[in-house]
Amino acid sequence: MTTPENTTPCPEHRGLPVGRMPELRMMPAPSDANVYGDVFGGWIMSQVDIAGSLPATRRANGRVATISVNSFVFKNPVFVGDLLSFYADIVKVGNTSITVNVEVYAERNRLQACTVKVTEATLTYVATDSDRKPRKVPPLETLLA
Ligand SMILES: CC(C)(COP(=O)(O)OP(=O)(O)OC[C@H]1O[C@@H](n2cnc3c(N)ncnc32)[C@H](O)[C@@H]1OP(=O)(O)O)[C@@H](O)C(=O)NCCC(=O)NCCS
Repeated sequence: MTTPENTTPCPEHRGLPVGRMPELRMMPAPSDANVYGDVFGGWIMSQVDIAGSLPATRRANGRVATISVNSFVFKNPVFVGDLLSFYADIVKVGNTSITVNVEVYAERNRLQACTVKVTEATLTYVATDSDRKPRKVPPLETLLA
């Protein structure tokens, strides 16, 4: 069978980032794709939001809410059956906010070892209390103690 993922050339293959653990790995299903067979941008955005929230939640030592999607670039299409790896790194910690960079790589044509960076985004989360109001991000030392 000819599918988009096994007919698309793989000019940028560099493999997955070395020495880094993805926060999330997902494989989109046919129900996540549009009529052209590409995965919906909105589906990718929701997974990116979840992936970014994981280090933010750890750093906040509790609940966070997404306040802003600062940038979002869909560099390459995502196809049904791609194995997606979401890498998330905290790039800034403010008084109540935590900003996270998320990079997404797709492993496609897996028998031909094709890995493509598909998305990069930066999102800001706010640490919130049980009333959903902003609270201070705790000092790092208190988390390590
Ligand atoms: C998140 C929320 C509680 C923050 O309350 P708020 O009164 O708007 O927040 P503040 O104005 O006090 O700002 C809080 C932090 O966010 C930052 N911030 C505010 N607007 C921002 C923006 N547009 N982009 C990036 N950061 C922003 C502020 O600089 C501040 O950071 P700091 O404390 O580190 O300096 C509130 O905005 C909210 O409930 N939003 C809806 C969240 C939501 O439903 N998200 C989707 C589902 S998770």
